[in-house]
Amino acid sequence: MRSVALRAGNYQYKALVGRKLIDTAGLNVAAKIRASSCAIISDSNVGPLFGGRVSESLRSSGFQPTLITIPAGEKSKTLEQAGAICDEMIAAHLDRHSFVVGLGGGVIGDISGFVAAIFQRGIPHVQIPTTLLAMVDSSVGGKTGVNTAAGKNLVGAFHHPVLVIDDIDVLKTLPPREFNQGFAEIIKHAIIADAEMFQELKVAQASGLRAGEMASETLAPLIRRNVEIKANIVNRDELDRTGERALLNFGHTVGHAIERAGDYREFLHGEAISLGIVAACAISRKKAGLPKDQQDAIVGRLRAFDLPTQLPPNFPREKIFGALPFDKKFEGGKIRFVVTSAIGSAQISSDVTMDDIREAIAEL
Ligand SMILES: NC(=O)c1ccc[n+]([C@@H]2O[C@H](COP(=O)([O-])OP(=O)(O)OC[C@H]3O[C@@H](n4cnc5c(N)ncnc54)[C@H](O)[C@@H]3O)[C@@H](O)[C@H]2O)c1
Ligand SMILES: [Zn+2]
Repeated sequence: MRSVALRAGNYQYKALVGRKLIDTAGLNVAAKIRASSCAIISDSNVGPLFGGRVSESLRSSGFQPTLITIPAGEKSKTLEQAGAICDEMIAAHLDRHSFVVGLGGGVIGDISGFVAAIFQRGIPHVQIPTTLLAMVDSSVGGKTGVNTAAGKNLVGAFHHPVLVIDDIDVLKTLPPREFNQGFAEIIKHAIIADAEMFQELKVAQASGLRAGEMASETLAPLIRRNVEIKANIVNRDELDRTGERALLNFGHTVGHAIERAGDYREFLHGEAISLGIVAACAISRKKAGLPKDQQDAIVGRLRAFDLPTQLPPNFPREKIFGALPFDKKFEGGKIRFVVTSAIGSAQISSDVTMDDIREAIAEL
């Protein structure tokens, strides 16, 4: 097990990355938190798989855990569900000295973090991410929240965890599509910040390693690297104000619109982002001088992890235009859009027009 030191302003915490960490979670938490009671918040897929082991480990380190399981899926990320969890925590006599453990993917990370932010005006949060996407992306950066009828992540709070525990053994039960979608964010990180990692992904691919078969010797350093990349960017712009953090949105403007146009059913988040990255690369080629061979290499890398790089022929492209986060006033005007001039770096361009985006979507 090795750890990544994370910093957010003056606040410091660690992400532990390694194997067999679920069963020693209690010891690692005890090194950080002096409390007795806690809530383990998990979902209906992950709770039955790992909830018992995490509870046992916490109990053997002297904690009194209450396991709260909510239905798996994005539909659970609501204010109502967060309220119901708080009610259960109160019923279990948790108080302001208690803490929350989020055990699951990004949905659980976001809602358990939000509950930790608001319960008794804020109690500590331990993240045990169980999807690749949650390990490399959503568990880092302190953003927590829930969806509302009007849209995703509209209500939330910044609340950094006290500890993140990335046990790569838990990824063995992750369905292949869920595993692969994590690579969309990994490839995004490589494009915006780490040309060397981009090459390493090619080596992994050339050696015949399919994502699902990746050995822990490959996976653990890769996860650590991605935690560092995201943490570095977040650290330069903790509250999402200076524009630095916006670089993490590479591929996300079009990707989110595709997700919405598919009613959040047709594509997983990472799959929609893969398509969004392809569109952002086409725009980068035109507006930021991204060389063709690098564009091709990016598309090739996405395909190598079974991520979509073309829309299905019958996909309603018009719906994507309608779902873009720009209204009529942008017609003919310039938009702030994240582009890359070369793999390993990204910048915000104000040279991109609605027509450029339309053209890139039409070509997908
Ligand atoms: N806070 C942030 O900065 C941030 C960043 C990116 C994404 N997100 C959020 O993350 C969420 C998406 O996260 P996700 O893709 O992890 O989705 P998820 O939490 O819904 O998990 C995906 C599916 O895999 C199952 N699962 C999880 N771990 C498993 C395991 N080890 N074995 C078997 N099944 C397992 C889950 O039950 C679920 O059905 C979205 O709500 C998104 O808004 C947040
Ligand atoms: Zn994303």
